[in-house]
Amino acid sequence: MSTSPGAASAGIRFDSVTVAYDGNVVLDALDLTVGPGEVMALLGPSGSGKTTALRAVAGFVRPVSGRVFLGDRDVTDLPPHRRGIGMVVQSYALFPHLRVEDNVAFGLKARKAGKARIRERVGEALEMTGMAGYARRHPRELSGGQQQRVAIARALAVRPDVLLLDEPLSALDAQLRSGMLAELARLHRELPDVSMLYVTHDQVEALTLADRIAVMDQARLQACGTPKELYRAPADEFTASFVGGANLLPVTVGTEGADFAGTRVDVDTAGAVPGARATLCVRPHLVGIGDGPNRLTGTLSEIQWRGATHRLHVDVAGHRIMADLRELRDPPVHGATVTLHFAAGDAVLLPAGVGDRGQGDRGQGDHGWGDRG
Ligand SMILES: Nc1ncnc2c1ncn2[C@@H]1O[C@H](COP(=O)(O)OP(=O)(O)O)[C@@H](O)[C@H]1O
Ligand SMILES: [Mg+2]
Repeated sequence: MSTSPGAASAGIRFDSVTVAYDGNVVLDALDLTVGPGEVMALLGPSGSGKTTALRAVAGFVRPVSGRVFLGDRDVTDLPPHRRGIGMVVQSYALFPHLRVEDNVAFGLKARKAGKARIRERVGEALEMTGMAGYARRHPRELSGGQQQRVAIARALAVRPDVLLLDEPLSALDAQLRSGMLAELARLHRELPDVSMLYVTHDQVEALTLADRIAVMDQARLQACGTPKELYRAPADEFTASFVGGANLLPVTVGTEGADFAGTRVDVDTAGAVPGARATLCVRPHLVGIGDGPNRLTGTLSEIQWRGATHRLHVDVAGHRIMADLRELRDPPVHGATVTLHFAAGDAVLLPAGVGDRGQGDRGQGDHGWGDRG
């Protein structure tokens, strides 16, 4: 049984939502739909508008135009407590003077739930987050990771249709973070009807947790797709470089393949016009060393040992190419001539965009790039 006013599983829909502070647009006509039970990551650099988007769903900021829907309810004019959402923020925001159980009960009390129901819901939420043994403690008696679990329990106690998480792991150290990431994935499996909007600037969190990722840049939605789509076939340079590491090489489209610094490379050119400038994107771990297809020869400018892998930086015709290789027994030395290769199917061509970040619609315009179909 749900006490929230929405349907059992409500998605989230931004309908051309624009938010401005003092006339500065910080969220620009966002159109985005999060399906019922879907985990959508909002991924982007600091200041790109992620938190603002989340706050528009929560009701803490009012759009200057556009509407926000939860399920089929237009909630744009509803106050936060009537939206049926749970929210978790980076700083936990627990009440220091309240015990864990009272922190978790807070939203239920605000909704005037009965004592028996509060006890049941608090117990359930603490159980779900592994904090049942800590009900009588105060926040100061908990580690950062435990405090964040309590914050999640507090958000879950109201049995929200929609869970909003704003960089919930960024205050934790790396090891705790990966453990909590697994916990959040488990929570999602246990609560398959709860839609989640997960704000992060961390691509690993987004790739791991999200059903789909919405990439934000400079107040705008830049791309949206499944982690695999965005990783394997990003549609623009910003997405390519923000979702995973990427080699981005300037090329000229040929009648077959493309030309990189005088070398012909074999790559799918569907949709591109011969003679047009374009960017070839290939992931560092898909670049090999030695003989193979699409050979590029250059000079080793840097080699980093990363335990399981070596990262090579190879300068080819003035461009640095990164290759991540399984730890090499006999690594090349600085200044050595190194031949790299990659399979045609592991590279994608993107519209040329170097230097014009944020200049209107990328992927359209005068660079002769057609519809990628
Ligand atoms: N309350 C506010 N008043 C004025 N500007 C704000 C306010 N909140 C956020 N901003 C500005 O809006 C932009 C987007 O912020 P935010 O949504 O917090 O970005 P993100 O979460 O992606 O880091 C930033 O330039 C930020 O400085
Ligand atoms: Mg933020």
